[in-house]
Amino acid sequence: MARSATSPVSQQGAATDVLDAARLRWCDAFVRVRAETERRAAHLSAEDQIVQSMADASPTKWHRAHVTWFFETFLLGPHLAGYTTFDERFPFLFNSYYVAAGPRHARPQRGLITRPNADDVTAYRAHVDAAVTRLIESITQADAPRVFEILEIGLHHEQQHQELLITDILHAFAQNPTDPVYDAGWQPPKPAAGPRGFVAVPPGIMAIGHEGGGFCFDNERPFHDELIANMRIARHLVSNAEWLAFIEAGGYRTPSLWLSDGWTAVQNESWQAPGYWRQKDGAWHVLTLGGVNPVDPAAPVLHISYYEAEAFARFAGKHLPSEAEWEVAARTGLLADAFGTAWQWTRSAYLPYPGYRAAEGALGEYNGKFMVSQMVLRGSSLATPEGHERVSYRNFFYPSARWQFSGLRLAEFV
Ligand SMILES: [Fe+2]
Repeated sequence: MARSATSPVSQQGAATDVLDAARLRWCDAFVRVRAETERRAAHLSAEDQIVQSMADASPTKWHRAHVTWFFETFLLGPHLAGYTTFDERFPFLFNSYYVAAGPRHARPQRGLITRPNADDVTAYRAHVDAAVTRLIESITQADAPRVFEILEIGLHHEQQHQELLITDILHAFAQNPTDPVYDAGWQPPKPAAGPRGFVAVPPGIMAIGHEGGGFCFDNERPFHDELIANMRIARHLVSNAEWLAFIEAGGYRTPSLWLSDGWTAVQNESWQAPGYWRQKDGAWHVLTLGGVNPVDPAAPVLHISYYEAEAFARFAGKHLPSEAEWEVAARTGLLADAFGTAWQWTRSAYLPYPGYRAAEGALGEYNGKFMVSQMVLRGSSLATPEGHERVSYRNFFYPSARWQFSGLRLAEFV
């Protein structure tokens, strides 16, 4: 008897086709993301991969292993029958901050771990890559939604570490008097053209956050309303030329421009310019991924802390936008260089959106427990991997941090 299009057998066949297509898609995504990490690390020697230049930064080798541990711990252990841990000593070394996942090595001492060496980490990655591929290929219809959900988090997690790998090694290279070059062929992003100046953001009750399908981190939810005042936002990022004017006007020597904690940081850290700027032959230069270059006046300023962004806004007689103002402006298409050059400091503290609750279990530690004492940055940077940015994405750092590719755009109230 011929099968009708709606018979249970054909429905089962269609479901298998859907699962097979999902398997292919996730295998492809997994291979691409894992390869990008290795592509970024390939510019670095085994010696480069060990160094940890400050407590906030991690060695390249640690990043490569930690993202692998994440898949091993949250995906393979619970979901791949018969999976054997690559090395029983690794979870202690490569757990970052997941208290529920067990004890861990002290973060400031990651740079002291010479063994496992870089080759051992390469073998660890290969072991986990093969196991994840096996899991994807053998997953049942019933287990697929949860497995693909954790896999997706793991991929976005690895992309976050791809950015940190770059910012951390640049910080390490900045401590080296020989000015190492990460990638001799590196070129800065071209700043957006078009008229500068301020544009009005639609005022009123406006919704922000992640809505509907597609991936987001839990901190982007719930989608909710915010009140936007009558205000205008700068189309462009603040440039190095504008920052030079701040320096020349004595910005770093004028306590009245600074928050109290900011002024303390200026004095303790002897800040006189953005991170990685140095005077050479009477002119400002900056260490980039392509080596030391003269500061380009037209390029957006990078490597500034929240304290510096806030002081600059005060100096300019302006403000920083809130994250809601930034998001509404970005959704309206008002912003040049919203993505791909500099994370942009906002004046918003990193807090839960109304009604936010972190998930139960270890993965609930991903974002929620950091929602105090940090400030939100929006957009994405030149180090953000392709496809990782979102209009609702919330990055966050302590206000003194400036080793990220962080800049600012201004706002004014009318
Ligand atoms: Fe991590």
